[in-house]
Amino acid sequence: MTKSDQNWRRDGVRADSAFDVVVDGYDAVYAAAASSPAFARLWADHAYGGPFPAEFAHISFLTYDELQAMAHFLALGEGTVLADLACGTGGPGLWIARQCGASVIGVDPSSAGLAQARKRAEQVGLADRSLYQLGTFASTGLGHGAADAAVSVDAIQYAPDKTEVFREAYRILRPRGRLAFSAFEVDPERVAGIPVLGVDPVPDYAPLLATAGFAIDSYQESVGWAVRVPATFGAVMEAMPTLADEMGEAAAASLQMEAAPTLQLQPYRRRVIVHARRLER
Ligand SMILES: C[S@@+](CC[C@H](N)C(=O)[O-])C[C@H]1O[C@@H](n2cnc3c(N)ncnc32)[C@H](O)[C@@H]1O
Repeated sequence: MTKSDQNWRRDGVRADSAFDVVVDGYDAVYAAAASSPAFARLWADHAYGGPFPAEFAHISFLTYDELQAMAHFLALGEGTVLADLACGTGGPGLWIARQCGASVIGVDPSSAGLAQARKRAEQVGLADRSLYQLGTFASTGLGHGAADAAVSVDAIQYAPDKTEVFREAYRILRPRGRLAFSAFEVDPERVAGIPVLGVDPVPDYAPLLATAGFAIDSYQESVGWAVRVPATFGAVMEAMPTLADEMGEAAAASLQMEAAPTLQLQPYRRRVIVHARRLER
């Protein structure tokens, strides 16, 4: 992380230790993931739910079917702009941009994730149609109506204020712009021991979307998530010595910190796939 990123973390976001834990954890994992064949293998075997284009790989639970359905719903064309909120290393957003001829602006608080996203954009020939910048759900740095559509994959559950997530998505989307996301609904009673999920646990995103000014086209439980999530985190725990060897102690500890409580406390009610449209007020 550069000095200016550190300042941004301190000044651009309210001091929030749970937020720092999440971002430091992702920084460590993103910096090390590419050097771990064991991590790539176990994620592909358990998390993806089937084949997924390798050059757009991610470390979430998005299936190729879900990605294709999101791209279809977002209905982007040549010259349009997609915002990828919590883009991480950028795989899903870049896949959609390539399919549709759109540009992508990725926002994430992890500078290590953004560095990997820029590298990936070069590798898949989309460097001239992509931009990656530090930001959060609450403060994306994008202008009013800057995006024709927005996507977010498996990250909203971390946001310290979910109301802000949808307020900001509404602000950056053009009128009638579309939003597709996957996220975990959190069971508030189970997350007291998990600070990163316990700050603002939301068991149902639908009311927040309505309040922010979105109409929901579809709100569905993700197929097979209840098997894939424990299988993936179980495999992470089993492979811990190998992961520590290949990725280093910090990255392995971050993975363990996510895997162990997820397995023990089962904090997620459901993983959902949501397609929504920004209404005009
Ligand atoms: C499971 S990863 C998903 C990354 C990416 N969407 C993908 O599918 O490859 C979760 C991401 O959420 C980001 N994140 C965590 N808290 C955030 C916040 N408050 N605002 C925006 N992004 C956040 C993390 O840095 C991380 O990159």
